[in-house]
Amino acid sequence: MDFKKDFPMLNNDIIYFDNAATSLKPKCVIDAITDYYYNYSSNAHRGDYKLSVKASNKFEDTRRKVKEFINADSEKEIVFTSGATESLNMIVSCFFKDILKENDEVITTKSEHASVILPWFNLENEKGIKVKFVSLDENYCLDENTVISMISDKTKVIVLSHITNVIGDIRNIKAIASEAHKRGIYVVVDASQSIGHINVDVKDMGADFLAFSAHKMLGPTGVGVLYGKEEFLKKFKPFKFGGGMNISFNSPKEIEYKDLPYKLEAGTQNIDGVIGLGTAIDYINKIGIKEIERIDNELKEYLIEKLKKLDNIILYNEKAKSSLVIFNVKGVFSQDTALYLDKYNIAIRSGSHCAKKLEDELGISNTCRISLYFYNTKEEIDRLIDALNNKNILEESIGV
Ligand code: ALA
Repeated sequence: MDFKKDFPMLNNDIIYFDNAATSLKPKCVIDAITDYYYNYSSNAHRGDYKLSVKASNKFEDTRRKVKEFINADSEKEIVFTSGATESLNMIVSCFFKDILKENDEVITTKSEHASVILPWFNLENEKGIKVKFVSLDENYCLDENTVISMISDKTKVIVLSHITNVIGDIRNIKAIASEAHKRGIYVVVDASQSIGHINVDVKDMGADFLAFSAHKMLGPTGVGVLYGKEEFLKKFKPFKFGGGMNISFNSPKEIEYKDLPYKLEAGTQNIDGVIGLGTAIDYINKIGIKEIERIDNELKEYLIEKLKKLDNIILYNEKAKSSLVIFNVKGVFSQDTALYLDKYNIAIRSGSHCAKKLEDELGISNTCRISLYFYNTKEEIDRLIDALNNKNILEESIGV
């Protein structure tokens, strides 16, 4: 299928291989946002006139679409946030901060993004909980049995990415959650890299909490989702107080908050962003998540096969199953490779990719990352391979 016509950015003679950082946006998403500003710009949940009712309905339509997309039980379990980072921080500061005690243990891995690890490091500093890292296997992937074998009486939470943002391994959350729940352990999942790429089903995987951003799944920046099982979200202490989240207030002792999800959505929301997310979900559903996964896999296999034929490439995550590939050109610093490829209008990410503890396992802090999405093509990969098949990358990147 040719997706080029759907993505205005692809008409700019660029090869965009940084989809794990943010995806491109289809025209329908851009149009939905523009339509809101052109035709029914107004606040949601606050007006008794047609425009505001329309904005409120569109906003809530997205909540329903998200609920269905991730197979949640109820729209009350879907809270809109500014992004996965805010969602992951809220899980810690609105819930776990109050229920965890000194020496309680949280299991995670060194492969995780800063937004997964740092809120828990902060809680370790504040409350003396202990963050424990499970070792990765020889391919830098996570074996679910290693996680399960690390569970102890002190383990209270397991927090993992569904797909990690550098290695790209797909975790067997279902197996881990099944063991965790037998022991009353909570499971927190960062789905930032899996959402829009593979099926994310909160019930099937057994997530108690799940976070993701709209902008990595064809939606706009500045919008994210916090999913939580209703019984747990009900216990969240709001961290933002203001309009839209209260029923009444008279004095500090006389405040009545709204029910979920509104009690966690104080202030005017990112209305255009949420509407854009709804359209992104429609677009993904139209193609089908299985078809997206199939194309991702086909492109990834093609890329790996071609990269392996070059003798100047070190590949680090060939065995990981998702659409991320990390590599270095022998003797060339990753950022120099990225700058070199940019001369060919090929956009990749270089560096530590916000996963700064991964260095302990990988033995190197800087890599080049290619992150594919279904609108990439084999022709684009061929152009990348042509550019990389050059003995003088270092000289050409730094302009010697
Ligand atoms: N988390 C994003 C990435 O992996 C920014 O690039």
